[in-house]
Amino acid sequence: MRETLLNWLPEDLSGRRVLDAGCGTGAFAIEAARRGAEVVAIDLSTTLTGLARNRLPVIQPPGRVEFVVGDMLDPAFGEFDHVVAMDSLIHYRTPDMVGALDGLAARTTRSILFTFAPRTPLLTVMHTVGRLFPRGNRAPGIVPVGENAIERKLAASSSMTDWRPSRTKRVITGFYMSQALELVRT
Ligand SMILES: C[S@@+](CC[C@H](N)C(=O)[O-])C[C@H]1O[C@@H](n2cnc3c(N)ncnc32)[C@H](O)[C@@H]1O
Repeated sequence: MRETLLNWLPEDLSGRRVLDAGCGTGAFAIEAARRGAEVVAIDLSTTLTGLARNRLPVIQPPGRVEFVVGDMLDPAFGEFDHVVAMDSLIHYRTPDMVGALDGLAARTTRSILFTFAPRTPLLTVMHTVGRLFPRGNRAPGIVPVGENAIERKLAASSSMTDWRPSRTKRVITGFYMSQALELVRT
């Protein structure tokens, strides 16, 4: 999936400001910075951003990465050319996902790449069965989302009128299944 999203960005990212929204341990952020981007990599997790900082290799200018603990939806982080939310919206229900994309779109000039858990029959069954068990300390569950539902809601959003879906790709590897969607500003 990371490779797919990186391929959907220009090869030379010099001069581009990129938000790695929900960066985890920062693998995407590092690759984008190696291609010249100025990356702001944000995650709610202090542990993950701490790991990311510790593992950060030397990056040649103009590329650079700043790892920040915070809310990727906070407008205080400013404007970006590209926003990438790899598997960081998969726990959001469709209206919340679209609300998050709305907010990000208002401060993005070129493209937003995000992934969602596609609503396939298998994933829907797994999700339904999973809900029968007590949550305990489990991580938040993923929420399967229909591609058509997202696209319809995005098209209906008054703040997304100058955005359109461009590419989509489903990636399935072992137990991993996620679908990427590219939104571009027209
Ligand atoms: C499944 S991980 C994916 C991490 C990374 N993007 C990757 O693909 O390896 C999802 C991450 O999104 C982060 N996340 C979810 N909502 C967030 C928010 N509003 N602000 C910052 N991080 C968020 C979580 O803390 C978690 O680390």
